[in-house]
Amino acid sequence: MRITIFGTGYVGLVTGVCLAEIGHSIHLHDIDQAKIKLLKSKKIPIYEPGLLKLFKKHLKAKNVQIDSDPYKALQASSIYFICVGTPQLSNGKPNLKYLLDVSNNIKDYIDQNRSNRKTFIVLKSTIPPGTTKELQTKIFKEDTYKNIHLGSNPEFLREGNAVYDFMNSERIVIGSDSAEFIRTLQRIYSPFTKKSKIHVTDPQSSELIKYGSNAFLATKISFINEISKLSDKVGGNIDLVAQGMGMDARIGSEFLNAGLGYGGSCFPKDTQALAYTFSKNKIPSKIIQSVIDINNEQKIYFFNKILDRFSKKELKSKSLLFLGTAFKPHTDDIRESVGISLINMISPIVKRVTIFEPIAKENSINALSKLNNVRFQKTRTPSINKNYDFMILATEYPMFLKIPYQNFKKLKDKVVFDGRNILNKDKLKKNGIEYIGIGK
Ligand code: UGA
Repeated sequence: MRITIFGTGYVGLVTGVCLAEIGHSIHLHDIDQAKIKLLKSKKIPIYEPGLLKLFKKHLKAKNVQIDSDPYKALQASSIYFICVGTPQLSNGKPNLKYLLDVSNNIKDYIDQNRSNRKTFIVLKSTIPPGTTKELQTKIFKEDTYKNIHLGSNPEFLREGNAVYDFMNSERIVIGSDSAEFIRTLQRIYSPFTKKSKIHVTDPQSSELIKYGSNAFLATKISFINEISKLSDKVGGNIDLVAQGMGMDARIGSEFLNAGLGYGGSCFPKDTQALAYTFSKNKIPSKIIQSVIDINNEQKIYFFNKILDRFSKKELKSKSLLFLGTAFKPHTDDIRESVGISLINMISPIVKRVTIFEPIAKENSINALSKLNNVRFQKTRTPSINKNYDFMILATEYPMFLKIPYQNFKKLKDKVVFDGRNILNKDKLKKNGIEYIGIGK
């Protein structure tokens, strides 16, 4: 089927390329001319495992076309996936400007061409519950636009795993009041029907599934982080606690890793948006607000562990080795990265911060350029040597587990702060290293 994708960010690009992989003919459109230029030169603006290879393959085969002209993009098909950003405004509300712009363009195109052809508008951008309905009543009025079929089809892609997640999704949620929309989406996703559950709902429920899922996962993280503080106090090991809890299938073991808390472009923004939607509907959101508060406090809790271990005077002469600035492994994304926040907190009180970051280095250099005591290692793996007094680990890269434990002995103070609880405390202890994690 011919499909036009509006917005070539994470969601749009992965969706477009993966839809091409299952046999569809894709037109990608973006208002950002620099992005279009980059895509036309066979490059992609993000790092996402497997994406570049698939993108090049389908570009070459002409299964993916890139349109900078919105008219051409609209002309190219009658199935429009809206994947534009919905960035957060200062009050937590998502900014729907780009979504409204694309919707109005589609409406104008249909009006100008007096087009009667069936048009399908698939809302993939993360939008507050009620948005699909609102578009239907305000822009695509049902009595005027009988041939426009609208619906929500949220994405559940993890950055760093997005291609895999798209090609192996556990569920595909389709929320619409139009039977024709549901049938069309079922056709689009038909190659996945064997492995994925197709869950059909009304639009509002579909929108709520997206927010509910992200907020629930964020809740698991904040929950275990709260328990980790008690574990610190009473002398437990939060990793063993989480493992024990996760053995109950009703609880599940995933997303129970205590640490510095969640970052990225999704959980922080979506929990804020959900809290905003609750308050807009005059319902107190006690759980969501606590999840947000606990997450914001977690980096301060960790920062205080550093202040408990070293006096401010001592820190002034310390050279710190800092591992990981990406908000999670295998992505170059540093949006809402806890590592970046921590460096901003720590760099003013230490002599020097040297960072090792394997993937998000370029973005991190830009983000931290104002801090004049921050440096980056140029090596492919972290170099631990006697130039550093102590170390902080802030991103759970599997490569950090491969560092030989005796290497940590080279740190002058022999102190390691593990913000993701991934290093082996006992092995470090055996090597004479003081280990400071979270909740253990
Ligand atoms: C998240 C969801 O997992 C996806 O299902 C969803 O589609 C996506 O948001 C989205 O809305 O687009 P993502 O933001 O890529 O995906 O990252 P996650 O893997 O969920 O991790 C988020 C953060 O939580 C990271 O900073 C990670 O380090 C942290 N985390 C994760 C923990 O602190 N503990 C855990 O146990 C798990």
